[in-house]
Amino acid sequence: MASIDIESVRKSYGPFPVLHGVDLTIKDGEFIVLVGPSGCGKSTLLRMIAGLEEVTSGEIRISGNRVNDLAPKDRDIAMVFQSYALYPHMSVADNMSYSLRLRKTAKEKIASAVGAAATKLGLDPLLERRPKALSGGQRQRVAMGRAIVRQPKAFLFDEPLSNLDARLREQMRAEIKKLHADLKATSIYVTHDQIEAMTLADRIVAMHGGIVQQVGSPLELYDTPANLFVAGFIGSPGMNFLEGRYVVSAEGDGKGASEGAGIRLSDGTVVPVARRTDIQPDAAVTLGIRPEHVVISDTGMLEASVDLVEPTGFGIILHLSLHGLPFKIFTLDRDALSAGPKVRVDFPRKYLHVFDEKGDRAD
Ligand SMILES: Nc1ncnc2c1ncn2[C@@H]1O[C@H](COP(=O)(O)OP(=O)(O)OP(=O)(O)O)[C@@H](O)[C@H]1O
Ligand SMILES: [Mg+2]
Repeated sequence: MASIDIESVRKSYGPFPVLHGVDLTIKDGEFIVLVGPSGCGKSTLLRMIAGLEEVTSGEIRISGNRVNDLAPKDRDIAMVFQSYALYPHMSVADNMSYSLRLRKTAKEKIASAVGAAATKLGLDPLLERRPKALSGGQRQRVAMGRAIVRQPKAFLFDEPLSNLDARLREQMRAEIKKLHADLKATSIYVTHDQIEAMTLADRIVAMHGGIVQQVGSPLELYDTPANLFVAGFIGSPGMNFLEGRYVVSAEGDGKGASEGAGIRLSDGTVVPVARRTDIQPDAAVTLGIRPEHVVISDTGMLEASVDLVEPTGFGIILHLSLHGLPFKIFTLDRDALSAGPKVRVDFPRKYLHVFDEKGDRAD
């Protein structure tokens, strides 16, 4: 197993920069998830760690050793792809043992490695089958098995579950998590699915436009997103945003730091917030609140019209218009099924997020 250090790593394809300087230290045994929208550079970063893509500048170290110029096969890293990339003419057992056979590993050693991995992944009854006689989930397990038998220093996963249906994805997600708890191998997992990121990661690396936006535990990103991008990306349905101005009222001044500050919305309503030290009075700000934190109340400070009611079974998503802009609530209260045509809402202060003019979190 290994630590992985990524230092000032940049990547350009010809004149086009794709990664703008990534710094990341991954601890031995850590499960890191790279998450972000399509095209943000996740696969490129992963492929550079694997050695499948050249590093334009900066340094990648595995267990402290610079690997920039090392061939993929000498990095001792296993990669699991979305496409599985199994050999169609080989049995499951042969697919799994392929890399060990290439390395001329002893027959008994191969048999025991394949046997152990197959048992771990529930593949024992399938070892003699060809990939085409397997379901998507079973193929995905073979691809993982093939990675496990090598006992690599680290695992790299590039959207390994995106070809599977929702139920199977959920199941495989739990299996990957159990596998990691068992093997404790350093893992980097790429996905654009924020639920996968939240559920699997020790730490999430949120990327956008070739730039790392925030690194932290899943709940750090959920509770204290560093900027509007992370706030909007993590959580489903996504965070609501309202434009406003930061105001400080004179009468609140003497009564403690959190008194007397608010965000004035376009209709003049002032939403009370904790006082911020790093925003000037009257500065333009964005107020954020997650759909699950909005409270419906007859005495709520804002009125919204109900556009659409979506029951999910578990809860209800209300699509509202607030000041003419879309706004969502998620609630477990089934009374919401008959909400409308208007509701009043409140924003509990402890759940409010404030972002400055540049979109950075204001504290
Ligand atoms: N070989 C290449 N030549 C030129 N541009 C490339 C090449 N490979 C990737 N890119 C560009 O680099 C950017 C990042 O691509 P990358 O595949 O890393 O994105 P990603 O975050 O993995 O996206 P997705 O979620 O769609 O897989 C994209 O804009 C892509 O078009
Ligand atoms: Mg990709």
